[in-house]
Amino acid sequence: MVRQLKLGAVLMGVGGPGDHDSWKHPEIPGDASIDIRWYIERARQAEAALFDLVFIVDSQFITPDSPPHYLNRLEPLTLLSAVAVSTSHIGLVGTLTTSYNTPFNLARRLASLDLISGGRAGWNVVATGDGGTAANYSRDEHYDYATRYGRALESVRVCQGLWNSYEDDAFPRDETTGRFVDPSKQHRLDHVGEHFQVRGPLNISRSPQGQPVIFQAGDSDEGRDLGAEIGEGIFTHAPTLEAGQAFYQDIKHRAAAKGRDPERVVVMPGVTPILADTDEEARELERSIRLGKDFAKTLAQFGRPFGWHDFSAYDLDAPFPELGDLGKDSFRTQAERIKAVAKERNLTLRQTVEHFTASNPAPFTGSPATVAARIEEWFRGRALDGLNVHVTVPSVFARFTDEVLPILRERGVVRGGYEATTLRGNLGLPIPRNTHTVAREQAAQAGVPGRVPAPAH
Ligand SMILES: Cc1cc2nc3c(=O)[nH]c(=O)nc-3n(C[C@H](O)[C@H](O)[C@H](O)COP(=O)(O)O)c2cc1C
Repeated sequence: MVRQLKLGAVLMGVGGPGDHDSWKHPEIPGDASIDIRWYIERARQAEAALFDLVFIVDSQFITPDSPPHYLNRLEPLTLLSAVAVSTSHIGLVGTLTTSYNTPFNLARRLASLDLISGGRAGWNVVATGDGGTAANYSRDEHYDYATRYGRALESVRVCQGLWNSYEDDAFPRDETTGRFVDPSKQHRLDHVGEHFQVRGPLNISRSPQGQPVIFQAGDSDEGRDLGAEIGEGIFTHAPTLEAGQAFYQDIKHRAAAKGRDPERVVVMPGVTPILADTDEEARELERSIRLGKDFAKTLAQFGRPFGWHDFSAYDLDAPFPELGDLGKDSFRTQAERIKAVAKERNLTLRQTVEHFTASNPAPFTGSPATVAARIEEWFRGRALDGLNVHVTVPSVFARFTDEVLPILRERGVVRGGYEATTLRGNLGLPIPRNTHTVAREQAAQAGVPGRVPAPAH
């Protein structure tokens, strides 16, 4: 199959991290993040442009300083179920944490979305960076990294096991014999692990794509290992071509070392294209967006990786403060990177905030031709397999779909039509076969009928 760029649309309603002002834009209703029609319209816009997926980020701990979209938004699987019945081809990827969910419940809800959508569900597996979430789930403290990522891996494996509960022909639904289910095709999991005990079977069958596609987002060593182990798609950030290439190679090497085919791990960094008729105009637009930001709000959100630490009491022009291990159990990787860069470059607090909140110059700023050329360079240079485009203002997104994508289509970088109606089909990922069916076939081939899995009770 020809390698083509994959496309995701990140739907952020009234504006996500660092975007304090989109909600004021005349094209964005103030309640966009809780209006299902908004999501449906954006998903249809992305589907008309042949995007692979829409991606819904999520978290469950807020403060008054959280980004506008985070303050008041719909739960991902609920909203994606509504989007599913209003679209036909686009993938539907929701973020669900394994730190504050249990696998049976996750498997059931995701399998439901997969059936509702005809095989278009995806799961962004996250381990929750916001430590404050613990207090919403009857816990005094957030889990440490080892436990978070241990739960994440075990959760995914349990879900995948549960998604094999029924073989594809488990329901004869034969009215003449009165046989609704074939009990030999229904399987218990009987999982007993470090974090979970799950008996199964799951009470829902497989979708046309077999199982939801697994995505992963988390940048620590533990996060990358998890992605290499179970991620079929990886969501990340790539501030520069070189940083993107380094991350890409690292993930693909880790996946290969685990015996996986690296081509079946799709790396998709998030991007915010800034487009104008000319490169100069686009740079000017980028500058005005940066200068228009409210520094007090930026400073408040800068505290998030450090467990929403309040930086407002510090002298902005003094060296970056000594913070000890603040953030060690929340967004540790990000917190450590910020501290290290501030120290290495001898930055003040103000300079550190500016350094991390405005990539300057942003890589995907320019005329449509420039942005298309840059995307192609990063794609062919193996800094990415796909892009997650942040969507807020519809007409800005339309410039990307109507002016950048046609150039890439002409060059064969993006598709000219959907290959399939499932997310796996469009991402070029195989449908995982039901493990019990495979075992049954292998046992039959080996002539060992006794090895056929025993019927469930
Ligand atoms: C591109 C990207 C998207 C993410 N999206 C979410 C999200 O929607 N919800 C969430 O709780 N965490 C999200 N995360 C963060 C992970 O959950 C992770 O817990 C966090 O980054 C801290 O772990 P780490 O040190 O392994 O990165 C995202 C991370 C990346 C890189």
